[in-house]
Amino acid sequence: MDLDAFFEHLWRDYVAMAPRAAELRAVFEARGDTVVNDHVAFRTFDRAPIRVADLEPHLLALGYTPLEPYRFDDKHLNAWAYLPPTAGQPRVFLSELCTEEMPGEVVDIVDALCAQIDPGACTGPDVFWSGRLWAAPTWAQYETLRAHSEYAAWMAALGLRPNHFTIHVNALDSCDTLEDVLRVVEEAGATVSAAGGRIKGSVEVGLEQGSTIADRAEVELADGERHTIPTCYYEFALRHPGPDGTLYQGFVASSADRIFESTDTRAPSAS
Ligand code: NI
Repeated sequence: MDLDAFFEHLWRDYVAMAPRAAELRAVFEARGDTVVNDHVAFRTFDRAPIRVADLEPHLLALGYTPLEPYRFDDKHLNAWAYLPPTAGQPRVFLSELCTEEMPGEVVDIVDALCAQIDPGACTGPDVFWSGRLWAAPTWAQYETLRAHSEYAAWMAALGLRPNHFTIHVNALDSCDTLEDVLRVVEEAGATVSAAGGRIKGSVEVGLEQGSTIADRAEVELADGERHTIPTCYYEFALRHPGPDGTLYQGFVASSADRIFESTDTRAPSAS
């Protein structure tokens, strides 16, 4: 599979979950912009056969190179960033829940879900849009997970698929600053996440990021119960040159920490 086909599959899965993203992309294209994808981010559990270590070989086979790891203590996540084979192609960000750091009831639910995975479903790059590889959790399980980790609840309900795509703001002709972008997004009717402030990061750290809050969709959980839950969001990233003059390529853990909260629609927080 070539990289264009890989991202086309991902985009189709993503906009099925987050139709607002397709609308926002069209808004920028109507302004004359070429929309370039900065990165796609995925969530997973640290359980075989879907650990980051299990998923990484598919990225390496597509020509990706590991850049560096990140750690999110409060959310109990580890992550890795990957650089594309050619500049201008999307980076990939893989994070995973450190299940053993969670309370026993979370460990039990995650293990029960992951025990259902058919390893044969994880042998190719299509695992990245395979969705839920286990029977739908009950609403009670979803709520138990969410009480401890919104990330775990999201994974249990939605599975392996893009969590967000990201517009590379540097490539937009119609906007000079990230605030310009966020204003266009809001004028189009979307809501910008306020968690950690509208703009996470700074020129000094090389990366400024903002995002919408996640779309919501009705999902069928166990016993035919239907619930409306947060799905996926759109991110916007403006990269700045470092001291050597080249554009910063990595991620900023303190910013990504709050970007994760774009799917947490319970308690909006500006702090
Ligand atoms: Ni991101």
